[in-house]
Amino acid sequence: MPSIQLWGKALLLLFVASPFVESKIDRKSLVQQYNLKLNHSHPYSPVQVGNGNFAFGVDITGLQTFLPHNTLSSWGWHNSSLPSTPNQTSPTDYTGVDWWTHGRLVNYEQPDPAKKDISQWMIANPHRINLGRIGLWWGNVGRGNVSEEQLSDKYQVLDLWEGVVASSFSIDGEEVLITTVASPETDTVAVNISSTLVRTEGLGIYLDFPYASGKNKFDAPFVGLYNATSNHTTSTQYRNRGASITHTLDATTYVADIAWEGYARLARLHEDEHKYILAASQNFETLTFRVTYSPQVVNISSTFATVKDEAATWWPEYWSRGAFVSLPTATNSSANELQRRIILSQYLLAVNEAGKDPPQESGLVNNGWYGKFHLEMVFWHLMHWMFWGKWDLYDRSIGVYERFLPTSFGRAKNQGYEGARLGKMSDPSGRSAPGEINSLLIWQQPHPMYFAEMEYRNFPTTQTLQKWDHILTGVADFMATYAWWNSTTGRYDLGPPMYPVSENTNPNQTVNPTFELAYWRFGLDIAAKWQVRQNKSAPEQWTHVRDNLAPFPTEDDTYVTYEGIPNMWSTPEYTEDHPGLVGIYGWLPPDSRLNMTIFNNTIAKVHETWNFPFSYGWDFPLLAITEARRGDAERAVQQLLDVNNAFDEVGMPVGGTRVPTPYFPSAAGLLLAVAMMAGGWDGFEGPVWPEGWEVESEGFIRGM
Ligand SMILES: *[C@@H]1O[C@H](CO)[C@@H](O)[C@H](O)[C@H]1NC(C)=O
Ligand SMILES: *[C@@H]1O[C@H](CO)[C@@H](O)[C@H](O)[C@H]1NC(C)=O
Ligand SMILES: *[C@@H]1O[C@H](CO)[C@@H](O)[C@H](O)[C@H]1NC(C)=O
Ligand SMILES: *[C@@H]1O[C@H](CO)[C@@H](O)[C@H](O)[C@H]1NC(C)=O
Ligand SMILES: *[C@@H]1O[C@H](CO)[C@@H](O)[C@H](O)[C@H]1NC(C)=O
Ligand SMILES: *[C@@H]1O[C@H](CO)[C@@H](O)[C@H](O)[C@H]1NC(C)=O
Ligand SMILES: *[C@@H]1O[C@H](CO)[C@@H](O)[C@H](O)[C@H]1NC(C)=O
Ligand SMILES: *[C@@H]1O[C@H](CO)[C@@H](O)[C@H](O)[C@H]1NC(C)=O
Ligand SMILES: *[C@@H]1O[C@H](CO)[C@@H](O)[C@H](O)[C@H]1NC(C)=O
Ligand SMILES: *[C@@H]1O[C@H](CO)[C@@H](O)[C@H](O)[C@H]1NC(C)=O
Ligand SMILES: *[C@@H]1O[C@H](CO)[C@@H](O)[C@H](O)[C@H]1NC(C)=O
Ligand SMILES: *[C@@H]1O[C@H](CO)[C@@H](O)[C@H](O)[C@H]1NC(C)=O
Repeated sequence: MPSIQLWGKALLLLFVASPFVESKIDRKSLVQQYNLKLNHSHPYSPVQVGNGNFAFGVDITGLQTFLPHNTLSSWGWHNSSLPSTPNQTSPTDYTGVDWWTHGRLVNYEQPDPAKKDISQWMIANPHRINLGRIGLWWGNVGRGNVSEEQLSDKYQVLDLWEGVVASSFSIDGEEVLITTVASPETDTVAVNISSTLVRTEGLGIYLDFPYASGKNKFDAPFVGLYNATSNHTTSTQYRNRGASITHTLDATTYVADIAWEGYARLARLHEDEHKYILAASQNFETLTFRVTYSPQVVNISSTFATVKDEAATWWPEYWSRGAFVSLPTATNSSANELQRRIILSQYLLAVNEAGKDPPQESGLVNNGWYGKFHLEMVFWHLMHWMFWGKWDLYDRSIGVYERFLPTSFGRAKNQGYEGARLGKMSDPSGRSAPGEINSLLIWQQPHPMYFAEMEYRNFPTTQTLQKWDHILTGVADFMATYAWWNSTTGRYDLGPPMYPVSENTNPNQTVNPTFELAYWRFGLDIAAKWQVRQNKSAPEQWTHVRDNLAPFPTEDDTYVTYEGIPNMWSTPEYTEDHPGLVGIYGWLPPDSRLNMTIFNNTIAKVHETWNFPFSYGWDFPLLAITEARRGDAERAVQQLLDVNNAFDEVGMPVGGTRVPTPYFPSAAGLLLAVAMMAGGWDGFEGPVWPEGWEVESEGFIRGM
């Protein structure tokens, strides 16, 4: 088995060698048309700079002055102390829960009612930490506490093209200019503060370091505790024009390395707090510095100017390569809003969702599900990178399937299945958090087949085949043994117990859900083709399951969520949450058993009955893709702009009634839907846009 590193490198070479698109669209002016121009802070949605593994959210000052917006990373995680409850003091004391599954007891990673404390610890740990806050210190300017209302002429521009934030305001008639930028290479934020107020210990900055809470499933909008100062330590090593602040929270240690230019002084404000002040020590009118966050001590020479240069190289290159689409923004307000969402999503996903692991739902803005990421959501978060030709960003985290293979084999074996069963709500180690839904969802299993097939269509090489071979084999072995041979009917059933995509049914009654049946067939089919392409024969069991799965369940000539669901269309609890069943035509290419009359009846029923205010995230892109595949461009666009699928002024996808803002699957799903509308799919070259829209697009790859 090749090491992950080699795998990534080899692939990267391949990706980089792929030709750049010769652009006909004036991308720069279109991108800059949507530069953020703000005059107030956003309580939920920070303006951000970042690099996919690291992001720094700012308020109207270009720093975290008034609002403690977060500084999150791929690598910053923390464990709370273990419970002291007898027999619940170690992760090994947690052993899951056994549920009856087709006549045998199967062990599931669910909270153990007899061991609540250790179960909860396993859910909440490790959690992602906020690396620290950097805000303006009003210093010896003599103003004490300044509030946002005391600033005038506030103006902030995020230049999307170069990834840089310029903020300005006046206070008592003095102007302050602040430039904020992040390095695309290291987890560094660099800042230039320019004002006469900076002079000798005038306007400066503070750095503060919070403790981790680990108490809340959603830590939004702000992460960390600034008032638990005695629970963690900071220590400082000074050097010429710089210092390394080591922050220790229990077993977690990392370094904030600060370097400044000119004469300035860094000092700790109070011995028992973790707040440090940096201010100019002579009569300069600028204070420039950078802070690099890292798990280890770093020795880098970057300055504000070099970081700004790196960003000014990386971002234009990001915008210039891969696909692009230009909608009729001047003549059509829907097109303009869709274009705004497309451009801002491209920026935000590169900042928040291009790290070494798949992203959490809220990226690097705040914490949801303790900062963990969900394997069933990997499809929605990452698939668009491929369609837009941003293969290198996709490649940063897709190695998760290889990395998590050992834990996935372990999970399947523990449950008496063959192969590799992928987990769900994960931390970077591959451990899946206990949860009833977490342990019983199955739609994450065929994702590697979708990714592998898309990759092979674009890179049809032995290397691609080898890269995915053992992953697809492991997952297909699990999928084939998970399907249960029903000797009465002479077909394979999926579940029970299980949760379908929509997570709103009784798991002990859920059997043969429509979407999962289609996805199982799709996945096993690709796994079988993968063997044939390597001149091997596919295991009989895979093809036997593929060809003998239960038919799609129907009720009155509509497809329904699962077989035997009682009165689906007139039962409110079944006509809400993700309308996953429409994914059998759109998200997935048509299954040979699909009956379009019945499907059309189904989508009509969804429109008629669904509780859309309760929907969120990728539901709207999912429907848009289905509508596009049905040739209904107007409706596809309507879905993307649905009132329940809002994107705020900063471009953050609004969480809606059920999750905090942002909920990035909406943004990533939007980019996938747009890519399919522009680039088409097998059997349809595309594009599909509303009547009368003049659209230019380039570089999209075709879907299946
Ligand atoms: C802030 O910007 C909005 C929209 O551009 C504008 O209507 C408003 O007057 C501005 N407010 C201030 C205080 O500048
Ligand atoms: C948290 O604890 C788990 C289980 O002991 C351990 O594997 C992991 O490395 C720890 N993570 C951190 C960030 O301390
Ligand atoms: C802890 O485990 C031991 C051995 O399994 C058992 O005898 C004891 O009753 C348990 N204690 C509690 C508080 O559950
Ligand atoms: C499902 O069955 C398990 C036992 O296998 C039981 O513990 C659980 O409560 C049941 N859930 C529901 C919703 O009926
Ligand atoms: C700033 O405000 C905080 C909280 O209101 C207060 O404790 C502190 O004394 C104030 N500092 C100054 C310099 O006014
Ligand atoms: C910092 O900003 C000021 C004002 O815009 C500018 O004159 C100065 O050159 C900047 N410093 C650096 C290092 O870019
Ligand atoms: C610490 O701050 C949090 C909010 O960040 C608050 O909920 C909590 O009550 C505070 N605790 C103390 C001891 O002040
Ligand atoms: C801080 O430590 C004290 C003493 O160990 C503990 O009681 C308290 O719960 C801790 N606070 C947090 C926020 O973890
Ligand atoms: C840091 O790097 C510089 C230049 O590469 C080198 O001269 C210096 O010795 C290094 N410092 C440490 C502490 O490693
Ligand atoms: C076999 O399938 C039939 C029809 O769906 C179902 O009623 C029956 O419960 C299944 N058998 C078992 C043992 O699950
Ligand atoms: C599709 O379903 C409709 C409605 O049940 C049925 O009348 C038609 O024969 C089916 N078409 C095929 C090709 O099976
Ligand atoms: C299903 O609906 C689409 C879109 O309205 C239409 O083009 C297609 O002909 C319909 N198919 C059937 C079999 O009714």
